[in-house]
Amino acid sequence: MKCWVVASGGLLGFDLGLLLSAKGIEWVGTSHSELDITSESAIEAFVEKERPTHIFNMAAYTDVNRAETEGKEEAYATNRDGPIHIAHVAKKTSARFIHVSTDYVFDGKKETDYTEDDPTGAVNEYGRSKLEGERGMFAAYPAALSVRTASLYGLHKDGHVAAMVKALQTQEEAFHITDQISTPTYTPDLAEALLILSGEKGIVHFVNGGWCSRFELLQEVLSLCHTWRVPVRAKRLVPKTQREVSRGATRPVRTVLSTRKYQSIAGKVPRHWKEALAEYFSHKADVWKT
Ligand SMILES: NC(=O)c1ccc[n+]([C@@H]2O[C@H](COP(=O)([O-])OP(=O)(O)OC[C@H]3O[C@@H](n4cnc5c(N)ncnc54)[C@H](OP(=O)(O)O)[C@@H]3O)[C@@H](O)[C@H]2O)c1
Repeated sequence: MKCWVVASGGLLGFDLGLLLSAKGIEWVGTSHSELDITSESAIEAFVEKERPTHIFNMAAYTDVNRAETEGKEEAYATNRDGPIHIAHVAKKTSARFIHVSTDYVFDGKKETDYTEDDPTGAVNEYGRSKLEGERGMFAAYPAALSVRTASLYGLHKDGHVAAMVKALQTQEEAFHITDQISTPTYTPDLAEALLILSGEKGIVHFVNGGWCSRFELLQEVLSLCHTWRVPVRAKRLVPKTQREVSRGATRPVRTVLSTRKYQSIAGKVPRHWKEALAEYFSHKADVWKT
């Protein structure tokens, strides 16, 4: 097995690289500046030189708000065209192709958890670009795998949980959204799932267990700050709705992903998001105290 981690410097890509190293698996990584997935010839040249057996695509245009406006073209070039280019090259060399997709392919109107077979219907440009990428790559290479996930946070790069801690530390009143519900997912857990799933094809969902609104996540983050004695300034948490907070792109309301398929493949249940978040705090609390 020789893996290529595309965008190994991203939030998720970094943790996948760490995991592969820890397991003694041969791998090579590229950053955006070293390899741009919008160029099929660059992908082809790289694969010819390195001959990976497994390609993990962690590259994406992830600025959901900017994708509505000035970032739209780049979002489609990266999220739609990029995986299609990789799929063409992976098929030619019979490499396994493991792609990462998002809960934003759904419209968020379903009241129960989304399965892999549920109809899609993205409500913003980021979601549409990712959905078209998924469709295009399967058309090009039906043996590819797309792992859909949600609401990532991890150690390597500050994501939305770190942003919550910062808000709690700098503002007297911190707010978040009640009508955006999904499962916060810890990138080391997802990296492990990607490796477990790397021999599969089709679509598989992976998120941590349970679910919450962004506001409930903020409440849990505040509670962990108290547990870990991370100093905070916030005296009050204010629940808001998407309508009250203009963020550029609309987010789907409830995108809880069912992990039954993952569980039947992996033979285990993803740990609850609160357990993973507590572990994240155990690594980060000292940094936030300084
Ligand atoms: N973050 C979330 O909450 C979330 C939720 C659901 C699904 N996902 C999916 O999870 C995957 C990993 O996301 P992440 O959170 O790790 O995002 P991230 O930290 O923003 O990483 C994405 C990486 O892709 C690189 N990149 C962007 N355009 C590229 C291009 N054209 N060619 C090569 N590399 C390029 C970026 O490099 P630069 O920064 O240098 O441009 C960055 O290193 C993505 O597929 C994303 O859609 C994320």
